[in-house]
Amino acid sequence: MKIVEQIKQPIGTEMELFEKKFHESMSSKVALLNRITYYIVNRKGKQMRPMFVFLTAKMVSGGEVNERTYRGASVIELIHTATLVHDDVVDDSNRRRGFFSINALWKNKIAVLVGDYLLSKGLLLSIDNNDFDLLKIISVAVREMSEGELLQIEKARRLDITEAIYYEIIRQKTATLIAACCALGACAVKPEDAEVVERMRKFGELIGMAFQIKDDLFDYTDEAIGKPTGIDIKEQKMTLPLIYALNNCTTKEKNWCINSIKNHNKDKKRVREVIAFVKERNGLIYAEQKMVQFQQEALSLLQNFPDSPYKNALTLMVNYVIERKK
Ligand code: IPE
Ligand code: IPE
Ligand code: MG
Ligand code: MG
Repeated sequence: MKIVEQIKQPIGTEMELFEKKFHESMSSKVALLNRITYYIVNRKGKQMRPMFVFLTAKMVSGGEVNERTYRGASVIELIHTATLVHDDVVDDSNRRRGFFSINALWKNKIAVLVGDYLLSKGLLLSIDNNDFDLLKIISVAVREMSEGELLQIEKARRLDITEAIYYEIIRQKTATLIAACCALGACAVKPEDAEVVERMRKFGELIGMAFQIKDDLFDYTDEAIGKPTGIDIKEQKMTLPLIYALNNCTTKEKNWCINSIKNHNKDKKRVREVIAFVKERNGLIYAEQKMVQFQQEALSLLQNFPDSPYKNALTLMVNYVIERKK
């Protein structure tokens, strides 16, 4: 059995019902919006965030989920979808999930508005059902994601990212939403247990860090992952492999590299040379090591939970984050 099927096995019914509810949560009276959301739901992603929500909920409660869990999972996936629609505008990217991105098909204006629509639908789903404890968790994530993206842009302009700043960026832009998945999964079924909610938040944050390092490693490959590769340097985005290479080379090489990114980032040949330089300087190997460290730290937080099919699946999920092919 494939690893994803194994992970989904203990949450099969939940994921099926989730998909139905998730589709419903997007509906609108505006025909254009329905056309676009139809396009979106037919090109679904890996749905890792709802999987984190359900697996966490079932692990901490011994197999229980409730309506709050379903709503929480939908809100998170709505927000995730909204940020991807916006992200492709920000990154000027024309592919997502193996198809054209919303901005590529309908232009930036529409993509910005659709992203806002999805975000508001998510927040309202919590508000209309008085899930204020869950809304708090989610809103913190939304704020941090925007801050993370802006921090990334600020640093891209000056090309002066240190390893510590890189971690802060990815914690905010990516890990915080996965942290919210796990905190929310626990909180929806055990709102009184602050200790477990916090432990699962931390777990999600750590695995979210590994998740984004993996995503940044994909950018250095030529594999078909459903979205463009090699665009980080084009967008002057410094990620861990490059940061490491810059810290471990001669001043001359560093100047060449920075100059390439600053002034020749649209030159395909030059970008390929920078990528080769990063590989030669072991940037990818270093990033992989860091990714595994975050993954191991995440796993250690699961130790104290009693063994169960949910805990096993969550452990598989942690491994999937770093072994996935897209
Ligand atoms: C992509 O997330 C955005 C990042 C945080 C790197 P996913 O890789 O989970 O995207 P989908 O939903 O599966 O397309
Ligand atoms: C991830 O950012 C999206 C957000 C967290 C908002 P990236 O720009 O690094 O991710 P991909 O590679 O386009 O999915
Ligand atoms: Mg981006
Ligand atoms: Mg992007």
